Amino acid sequence: MESKKFSIRINDGERTFFAPAGESLLSVLFKNGILVPSACGGNGRCGFCRVKITDGAPDFTDSERSLISESDRLHRVHLSCQVRIESDLKIELPASTLNAKRFSGILEEKLLLTSDIVGLRIRLVNPEEIAFISGQYIQLRSPMYDGRESSIRAYSIASPPSDRNHVELNIRLVPNGLCSTWIFQHLQIGQKINLTGPYGDFHLSGSSAPAIFIAGGSGMAPFHSILHDLIGRKIRRDVAFFFGARTQADLFYVDELNRFMQENPWFQFIPALSNEPEDSDWKNERGLITDVVARYFPDCSKHEAYLCGSPGMIDSCLKVLTRNGMPKDKIYYDKFA
Ligand SMILES: Cc1cc2nc3c(=O)[nH]c(=O)nc-3n(C[C@H](O)[C@H](O)[C@H](O)COP(=O)(O)OP(=O)(O)OC[C@H]3O[C@@H](n4cnc5c(N)ncnc54)[C@H](O)[C@@H]3O)c2cc1C
Ligand code: FES
Repeated sequence: MESKKFSIRINDGERTFFAPAGESLLSVLFKNGILVPSACGGNGRCGFCRVKITDGAPDFTDSERSLISESDRLHRVHLSCQVRIESDLKIELPASTLNAKRFSGILEEKLLLTSDIVGLRIRLVNPEEIAFISGQYIQLRSPMYDGRESSIRAYSIASPPSDRNHVELNIRLVPNGLCSTWIFQHLQIGQKINLTGPYGDFHLSGSSAPAIFIAGGSGMAPFHSILHDLIGRKIRRDVAFFFGARTQADLFYVDELNRFMQENPWFQFIPALSNEPEDSDWKNERGLITDVVARYFPDCSKHEAYLCGSPGMIDSCLKVLTRNGMPKDKIYYDKFA
């Protein structure tokens, strides 16, 4: 006997389809070509697959309670991988999720940028072009290797939207990490890569307020894209870009960013090193990036901030920026969790 079907109505009827009882909402959306971000294989661990369910939602599961804040739960945000279809559902999805596509590409370049960050340049093959906003990310699927499972992980796009045929990524090797180890040790030039995207709402606001960018490690990627985009489109926007690293060996794109600074008076690049030996030839900032930012901007009440990197770095920056007067709603960030 065929199982009962329920309707899934998206954004007030922009799309509607029917799904069998018992299936997960994430898998139903995927089958209907809606590529909701998901980085844990639907196991309720990554917290990426959020959807707002305005009608018909079941109770929250334990994973949802642990990954979704109380205020988001009050706004009826669920993890689509945890929702079993048991009734008709009305859901809301952002345009960026509805527009995400599958891409296949070929790795054209693989460059060691530091001892633990690699730069990839991927030529898109099918489809051959991507449209995205600087700051957004794609998801990359690593295949099974060495007896380890396939994985899907998020990586911010480092290239500008004007380069529609390519996607560049800066990827840090996470010790024993599934996807980054595959990228470092197995991925070869000429090999096929599967991507989905673009995703995310991290991008420059439309305001003209002076901006503080703060990144560490591979958190460079979205800012590299944003700066190329601003310069390429001849947009002037006061930007101070603080980049935190341990030593000089952990810096990359420095010559290019210094050149941007010389050619564009509105742009300032401030690298800061936390573990550089005292007797080295380093003449620029030293110390934790948060302390350096606080020294440059004791009052940042008129600025906006954009942050990318580890959750720890972002949480420390949030404290410093709000302490120095920046309103919380002027701080935009992507945690590379
Ligand atoms: C929006 C967004 C954008 C991002 N952009 C970038 C980017 O531009 N560049 C970048 O480098 N990263 C980025 N990230 C992070 C990236 O998505 C991955 O999280 C990162 O590459 C690690 O993935 P992995 O598969 O290598 O590691 P994972 O396999 O996910 O492992 C992560 C850690 O968990 C440990 N671990 C794994 N399995 C277990 C287990 N069973 N028990 C205990 N510990 C375990 C590993 O040892 C490792 O320390 C981004 C993340 C987000 C959310
Ligand atoms: S796909 Fe990871 S929590 Fe749902």
